[in-house]
Amino acid sequence: SSSNNEYTYESITETARFLRERIPFTPRIGIICGSGMGAYWNKGSLADALENPIAFPYEEIPNFPVSTVEGHEGKLVFGHLSGVPVVCMQGRFHYYEGYALSKCAMPVRVMKLIGVTHLIATNAAGGLNKSYKVGDIMIVKDHINMMGFAGNNPLQGPNEKRFGPRFPPMNAAYNKQLIKVAKRIASREGLGGDVHEGVYTCLGGPSFETVAELKMLRMLGVDAVGMSTVHEVITARHCNMTVFAFSLITNICITDYDNQDEANHQEVMDVGKTREVVLRHFVSKIVDYVAKH
Ligand code: 6GU
Repeated sequence: SSSNNEYTYESITETARFLRERIPFTPRIGIICGSGMGAYWNKGSLADALENPIAFPYEEIPNFPVSTVEGHEGKLVFGHLSGVPVVCMQGRFHYYEGYALSKCAMPVRVMKLIGVTHLIATNAAGGLNKSYKVGDIMIVKDHINMMGFAGNNPLQGPNEKRFGPRFPPMNAAYNKQLIKVAKRIASREGLGGDVHEGVYTCLGGPSFETVAELKMLRMLGVDAVGMSTVHEVITARHCNMTVFAFSLITNICITDYDNQDEANHQEVMDVGKTREVVLRHFVSKIVDYVAKH
């Protein structure tokens, strides 16, 4: 896997320059909207709610991967969220689409070169912690890089020093201050009981997990399971971005052989839709805090 990163520093610079030449402001905050945050719809999504938006469909951005998820119009949207300049990925790249992890996480490096210092990554996840309910928010306090255990990591290949060190630490990946602030915002917004702090893991997908796999993950201390975010966070921390991440719990993981329900993509999207206003508000308050500090 020594050469699975097709991007050079120069190619990412070229992508960043293309975008910078077309936007009249510099966002310091990047937001990745996953299936929990409007990646799959255009009306009511966070990206759609930005003021004075400038949108770039992924296929129009030089060197960008193109999303293959069905019904999924991927675009990078620059705009303002309650007056604060942000850049928002509406839709992301997943390992199950067939891209190398470095390719999935490439937009994070583009954001870095544009001037982004803070990354807010969102996703939809299955709840493994028995106290979680559908529609809850889990603020990510840590992750378990399961794909890393299997020898896969977005930083594999020659290290690009201009982004960061060969062996970046990951013990403080999720910014403590932002977690504290987000919890305060949640309780002020009346979300208190629906917001948790937990451990996320990313599996490759696209198949959902078996009962045995989910029981194993729960034993390992995983609170929510998804198919994204970890490689983006690793890439963001490598280049010293401040990271905040949360999961929308769209379904409860089935860890009982007698339960005949099945996880499905439709419920993941439906729950996102019912929580869009709350989530947009939550994100916009966090953006507001970051902009003022
Ligand atoms: Cl149950 N598993 C995974 N891997 N991703 C999910 C999920 C489950 N529910 C939403 N996303």
